[in-house]
Amino acid sequence: MLTTGKPILEAARSGHYAVAQINLNNLEWCKAALLTAEREQAPLILGVTEAAVNYMGGFRTVAGMAIGMNEDLNITVPIALQLDHAGYEACLQAMDAGFTAVMYDGSAKAWEENLEQTAALAAICRRRNVSLEAEVGSIAGEEDGVVGTGELASPEQCEAISACGITCLAAGIGNVHGSYPADWRGLSFETLEAIKAKTDLPLVLHGGSGIPEDMMREAIRRGICKVNVNTECQQAFAAAIRTWVHSAEGQEAKSDRLPRFLAPGVAAIERVIAGKIRLFGSAGRAFG
Ligand code: 13P
Repeated sequence: MLTTGKPILEAARSGHYAVAQINLNNLEWCKAALLTAEREQAPLILGVTEAAVNYMGGFRTVAGMAIGMNEDLNITVPIALQLDHAGYEACLQAMDAGFTAVMYDGSAKAWEENLEQTAALAAICRRRNVSLEAEVGSIAGEEDGVVGTGELASPEQCEAISACGITCLAAGIGNVHGSYPADWRGLSFETLEAIKAKTDLPLVLHGGSGIPEDMMREAIRRGICKVNVNTECQQAFAAAIRTWVHSAEGQEAKSDRLPRFLAPGVAAIERVIAGKIRLFGSAGRAFG
């Protein structure tokens, strides 16, 4: 059941759990995410970066796939289709194609420009019934060639941007896209508390791969309502297929059909997604 991010995030906030945003990289990811969400009876957000949109063919290709699959697989749990870390124009293109949620990421721009463009998009999103995530303070690590410096978000800037009429806010609290470095200092709960005190919105944690489970539970307890996950699915998919191809079964496989080769990877992604849904507390929360 396709919806915007708003009801999903508001339910997560009042229910004190977090919804998983699973980033899509191809058709298998989309199917694995939808089927796992349905099995777990969990609301879910399908996230797609601009690079992944380009890889798959374009906004209409991705929207057609996600919307069509949602119907063909009879998915009953609430699902949002969200553009992840995008520029202003890409957000408009995604809305035109049928995305139900967009993330405008102006965190690398001058603060005034981020604020101005976020406010402009918020007005458009309101008219078009699309949810909007904004970002303050870039998130460390690298995603699609965008390198964040990892500063912690300013609670004052979070307060100002949350007044623009956005649906939810991604604010750097020491989180990192991709693998966490060995000398990572962990999430800053002090920053999270300071941001929470200045805002009245669902808060989003990017870089959801590789955060220790206790730290993740604590972040959700302190108000994180949405956690984005990509790297762990990518790693699990690649490792499972690599292992299978080199196994005796893989070496002897009689079938040259693509689904046979991808099956171990798909099963691995499904395990990761189910694990995240349970860790975030969203299993069984599809309908409140
Ligand atoms: P990871 O790749 O670190 O899981 O982060 C995903 C993300 O934040 C997408 O926006």
